[in-house]
Amino acid sequence: MTPMNAQTDVGGPAQPLLTIQGLQKHFPLKKDPLGRGGGVVRAVDGVDFEVLKGETLGVVGESGCGKSTTARLLMQLLAPTGGEVIFDGRTVGTRDLPLKEFRRQVQMVFQDSYASLNPRLTIEDSIAFGPQVHGVPAREAVARARDLLARVGLEPGRFAERYPHELSGGQRQRVNIARALALQPRMVILDEAVSALDKSVEAQVINLLMDLKAEFGLTYVFISHDLHVVRYISDRVMVMYLGQVAEVGPSDDLYEQPAHPYTHALLSSMPSMDPDHRTEEAALAGDPPNPINPPSGCRFHPRCPQAAPVCARQAPVLAPTSLLHAVSCLMHEPGSGHPQAQVLVPRAALKAA
Ligand SMILES: Nc1ncnc2c1ncn2[C@@H]1O[C@H](COP(=O)(O)OP(=O)(O)OP(=O)(O)O)[C@@H](O)[C@H]1O
Ligand code: SF4
Ligand SMILES: [Mg+2]
Repeated sequence: MTPMNAQTDVGGPAQPLLTIQGLQKHFPLKKDPLGRGGGVVRAVDGVDFEVLKGETLGVVGESGCGKSTTARLLMQLLAPTGGEVIFDGRTVGTRDLPLKEFRRQVQMVFQDSYASLNPRLTIEDSIAFGPQVHGVPAREAVARARDLLARVGLEPGRFAERYPHELSGGQRQRVNIARALALQPRMVILDEAVSALDKSVEAQVINLLMDLKAEFGLTYVFISHDLHVVRYISDRVMVMYLGQVAEVGPSDDLYEQPAHPYTHALLSSMPSMDPDHRTEEAALAGDPPNPINPPSGCRFHPRCPQAAPVCARQAPVLAPTSLLHAVSCLMHEPGSGHPQAQVLVPRAALKAA
């Protein structure tokens, strides 16, 4: 099989593979028969981030914070309410980069291994289907499918002719990974792709994903509830809260020195890997987030232990604290008026002193 990174790297290695700017998805709510209600669910509400070439970007956050909606927007499975997706310097869905070409370069693997596969197709045909749709001759597509089956650890002689119901969950997820790779993509979005697997199978599939990434020069966006797994697999991690980015930074930095109070709370609620140090600490108090009527100012303020009066009035901006680390919190915004923020002294006052 041709190496996947043989595809043109248009912008060079320093250019992010994916740049997301101002991404929004508001789902309209139905009105009742008397015309009451309506409004929108602000599932994704102004998200900016980059995915660098060859990295794994982990995405974490409580249920409902907009991780899957972001993934579906990246894949162009949903039309955004606003914002842009730029892939290797080219705007997706324009003449610059038509959807069909983009869809070949970016693939997705979902949590539900069964729902993603057509029950009436053998797994070999399932894997060969995508390349055939994109014009690869049938014989070549089948050969590619068998090659991929072997690479994901399913011996083609034993598995190629089987149907999805004849496989275990872990085997089906290996088929889904093979299917995603069949179009020789540059990027794979994994949305809870290992979450439904038993722990030992999960570990094998994670190691498989890491091997395939190195072998094919892939870039991953890895979405998961499991903060331990995310740390293990990711180069950088992005923390989402109520449809926005709270913090993003290199994994070790973010886990060892979280800058955002929400990241801090999320990590403190993480079960320890060491059974002697298990705590049941409920670090996240307060109302669960509501994307229909998000709180004013900083969306985390009703639950934030560091909240100051300014937090209810002023929305923080995601801003860099170092080269690869950015945080959206008024404590880190000089001159924001938060008691812990650096105070900015006006130039005139400095001159007078
Ligand atoms: N089609 C839709 N119509 C209306 N609301 C939706 C739709 N899809 C998602 N939502 C809402 O958007 C918000 C974000 O959902 P999303 O599935 O992106 O969250 P998530 O972070 O992936 O959660 P989980 O961790 O449970 O998978 C939620 O409040 C959800 O109810
Ligand atoms: S801006 Fe205020 S409420 Fe929001 S996370 Fe920072 S300190 Fe907490
Ligand atoms: Mg989800």
